[in-house]
Amino acid sequence: FITLIWLLYSRPQSCCCRKIHSDAKPKDPFTLAQRDLTSLYDDIKKELFVSKELKSLCDYYFDGKGKAIRPMIVVLMARALNIHSNRAGDLLPGQRAIAMISEMIHTASLVHDDVIDGSDKRRGKRTINEVWGERKAILAGDFILSAASMALARIGNNTVVKVLSQVIEDLVRGEFMQLGSKENENERFKHYLEKTFKKTASLIANSCKAVSILVNSDPEVHEIAFQYGKNVGIAFQLVDDVLDFTSGASQMGKPTAADLKLGLATGPVLFACQQFPELHAMIMRRFSSKGDVDRAWQYVLQSDGVQQTTYLAQRYCQEAIRQLSMLRPSAERDALIRLTEMVLTRDK
Ligand SMILES: *[C@@H]1O[C@H](CO)[C@@H](O)[C@H](O)[C@H]1NC(C)=O
Repeated sequence: FITLIWLLYSRPQSCCCRKIHSDAKPKDPFTLAQRDLTSLYDDIKKELFVSKELKSLCDYYFDGKGKAIRPMIVVLMARALNIHSNRAGDLLPGQRAIAMISEMIHTASLVHDDVIDGSDKRRGKRTINEVWGERKAILAGDFILSAASMALARIGNNTVVKVLSQVIEDLVRGEFMQLGSKENENERFKHYLEKTFKKTASLIANSCKAVSILVNSDPEVHEIAFQYGKNVGIAFQLVDDVLDFTSGASQMGKPTAADLKLGLATGPVLFACQQFPELHAMIMRRFSSKGDVDRAWQYVLQSDGVQQTTYLAQRYCQEAIRQLSMLRPSAERDALIRLTEMVLTRDK
């Protein structure tokens, strides 16, 4: 089965490990991206210029405490691509706008996800639905999306509008896919990876593609940017799915297992199901019977589901690096490579 997964989901790779870093240690991506992100949240708040109450809902998550990973990837990719295209690294206005729009679309989707999942906490804060109620949370998410659409239209490039509108479609379809489960095990894994692309990776991939469109007319370069974003995005989510089983395990003795509680079977469970077919029935009923969550968690720990998922994430990161290695060297390119390591080693 696992071989089959590799055949289906890994691109054939020659050696991806040839040395492409310069000798100097690449700069920390967060530090390197900082100069382009100093006004990020102020810029977003300006876009959300509305009446008082709606404004406080919309501004709620743009408090400067988020990691702004998407804008960071976007500005580093933009500079790397600008240098690749024989320009100075400095961002074009449209590229700067895309960094901002990526964070707005992401945040709007979080606001809506929290309603769908009935979550009451995010990043240590009460969620919008918890503070103001579900109806207002839905409207706030919609409003952030509409503000993002207006900023997108202002860039004035139809191709870019199309690429980023695809993201919104993917987010909706991905969330829909998450509401259903698949009987056949192979199909289930394929379904999981497709959902992961749509819910998480599409935004990163298409934002990278959009900044590429603005500076370069070569479709091969757009594809490199897209593939980097796609592979990093999927790896990021796979690691997230692993952390749902492993983080907090040391402090509290129990992981959060939030996904199981929501009825979701992610990578570690799907791999574990190969070794423990008992999991199949639990997956199908979305861990809804008493004791399912605990039992499924035990099976996952006894299996190598966590290692297999981590290994899969590594493969996606290798592919991301292989893609970037086709760009001309720059500090930003190397920071994006460094970022793939950070994705794999992060522990929260
Ligand atoms: C988008 O911008 C790029 C780069 O300036 C340009 O080559 C392309 O023609 C534009 N596309 C549209 C539809 O405006």
